[in-house]
This record gives sequence, structure tokens and C-alpha cells, in this order.
Amino acid sequence: MKEIVLKASVKSSVFVGEGAFHRCVPALLKGQKNFLLTDSNVYELYGGLISSVFGNTPLYVLPAGEENKNFSELGNILTAMTEAGLLRTSCLFAMGGGVVGDIGGLAAGLYMRGIRCVQIPTTVLAQVDSSVGGKTAIDMNNIKNVVGMFYQPQTVVVDPLFLRTLPVRELKCGLGEIVKYAALSAEIYKEVLKHIDNLFDLSFLEEITKLCIDHKANVVRKDERETGLRKSLNMGHTLGHALELYDKKLSHGEYVLIGLWYETCVAQAMGLCKQEYGDTLKALARKVVGGIPAVTEAAIGGARMDKKNESAGTVTFIAPISKGIFDTVKLPYEEYVSRILEAAKEAEC
Ligand code: NAD
Ligand code: GLY
Repeated sequence: MKEIVLKASVKSSVFVGEGAFHRCVPALLKGQKNFLLTDSNVYELYGGLISSVFGNTPLYVLPAGEENKNFSELGNILTAMTEAGLLRTSCLFAMGGGVVGDIGGLAAGLYMRGIRCVQIPTTVLAQVDSSVGGKTAIDMNNIKNVVGMFYQPQTVVVDPLFLRTLPVRELKCGLGEIVKYAALSAEIYKEVLKHIDNLFDLSFLEEITKLCIDHKANVVRKDERETGLRKSLNMGHTLGHALELYDKKLSHGEYVLIGLWYETCVAQAMGLCKQEYGDTLKALARKVVGGIPAVTEAAIGGARMDKKNESAGTVTFIAPISKGIFDTVKLPYEEYVSRILEAAKEAEC
């Protein structure tokens, strides 16, 4: 088990590796009132483990799915926390995928103006990305993560134990964020290409998770509140988030891969991204997601509301340039749309 210390506004410890859950969680439960948030799928799969480790800790089981990362469920969680009599010294454990982590982190940040939070991510996506760095949120009015706060967890416990029950589709979803990290870090890029034929193996996922968390922790240490460098962690997300909220048929990670594919095409067409490097990234994204769908103008519309945008009528995205190098690109909305539509012509080829 490895410990990665993330010192931002507060200090978080991330424990990663086989055995982390059993080594860390019982100790973290001691000494205060606790509350467990999980989702219906995780509870069904791990109910036995939960009762053996969490005992009679009060819990709320969120119905699984992105559609429940909403204001009404946030209210239900906070109500359950008040009913459990939590105090300012209490601790919320968020055990699940990115949905549980995001809404649970927000509930912890809001309750009595902030109680401790321990993240126990159980999906690849949550382990490599969402549980670390303190972004918490719910979706509202069809806009992803529009209500939330930066609220660092005290501890993140990342144990590959949970990955064994994930359907291939969820592994693919997590690989979306891993391919994003490959586009941001030359070291992760090299590792991913080295394992191109076994990207879905749990042993590869366990090792690459440590590298991705290291990369993310380095970024968050420098720019916790996303005024600059942290925007890079949103590569592929400008279009990805727009598509995700438009048709809701694929997972977050799959939309990130599709967004990354399109935005790499745009960066190549603008002469920003090296052709061969861009082609390798696009082939990687296509291999993981299985196929790149053509997108329509209506589906791109949500990019107008992307949180990276700095002025009305412009769209900001993160362009891959060459190994480990990227840049922030701002385009008028109309130009962004026409460049994405141009790329769509080669999408399904
Ligand atoms: P998710 O939480 O919906 O989990 C995906 C599915 O896997 C769900 O059905 C869940 O019940 C199930 N599941 C969870 N653990 C399991 C396990 N061990 N075995 C079997 N099934 C399991 O989705 P996700 O992909 O984990 O996360 C996506 C969310 O994360 C999105 O809301 C996205 O916006 C958010 N996100 C946040 C950040 C951040 O920095 N905060 C970063 C990236 C993504
Ligand atoms: N996943 C993007 C971030 O944490 O900033």
C-alpha cells in the first residue's frame, strides 16, 4: 500500500493498493460518530463487507445512477445525516463510484458548514480521478456539476478489491479518464501504450491508478481551485460533458473518450497537435470506446455552458499538443461547432 499526501488548503492522505480498505477503514471509524453513504448497487454487492466493517453506522443508500446526483437526493442525504445526530466532529464515508463521491463530498461540506469526509472509491473512474482533489457537485437544470464546492476529503482509500465486480462497461468508463491522463503525462502515455493489449487487466489498472493519482495530486497541489493548470484535467470534457447531458446513453468516461477524439481532431486541424501523436491518441480513444459516433449541432450545444469558458460566446477546451504537452484553446462558439462537425465526417469511418 502506498500513501500519497496531497497538501492543498488542507492535507489529504490517499492510501492506494491491495489491502488498503481493511488496513485503513476500521482505524478511521474510531473516535467519532460516523455516517456511510453508498449506492444501491454497491450495497447489494458489498452489504456483507459493509456490515462487518461499519457495524451499526447509520447509512443512506442512494439509488444508483447519475440521474440521482441531484438536489432532491442531496436533501435526502442531509436529512438522514441530521436524523443520525451527526456532530461537527463526525465523519461521512462515501463508498461508491463518482456519483456517491461527488454528492457525498458535497453533503459533508455542507453539513454544519463542513465535517470530515473519507472517500472509498469503488469504480476505476472514481479510483483514478474523482475521489481525489476535492471536487464535489450535483447536476442541475441539465448542467453537469453546476452546483458544488471544492471540499477536500480527509482520507481517500483506494483498494483494487472493488474492481473485481465491475462490468467491462465500467472498466471502459474508467479507462476514459486513464486515456485522458495519458494525454497529459508522457510517463502515463508510455505505460498505457506498453499495455495496449491488456488495458482491461486488473493488475494494469491497479498500477496505472497510482500514476494517475500522483499526476492529479501534483496538479491539485499547484492549483486546487482550477484557476489554471487544473483545467488540464478536463481534457476531452468540454465536448464530453455536452454529449453526456444531451443523450445520456453512454457513461461519463465513454463521453470523455469521444470528446477527446473530437477535440484532438480539432487541435490537429488547427495545426496545434502533432499529426502522428494525435493519431495515436485518437486510435487509443477509439480502441477503448469501441467506435466514435458522429455528433450533431444540437448535441454540441452544452459546450456553451462549460465551466472552463471565460466569456459568453466562446468555448474553452484543452488541446493535446505532443507527449505530455497540452494547451488551453479558446474559440468562438460557432467556430468550435463547425470544427467539431468537420471532424464528425471522419468519425464513423
Ligand atoms: P457511478 O458512480 O454511477 O458508478 C458507475 C456504476 O457502477 C453505478 O451503477 C454503480 O452503482 C456501479 N458500481 C460502483 N462500484 C461498483 C463495484 N465495485 N462493482 C460493481 N458496480 C459498481 O459512476 P462513475 O463512473 O464511478 O463516476 C461518474 C461520476 O463521477 C460522474 O457524475 C462524473 O461527473 C463524476 N466525476 C467527478 C470527478 C471529480 O473530480 N469530482 C471527476 C470525474 C468524474
Ligand atoms: N476531474 C477533474 C478535476 O478533478 O479537476
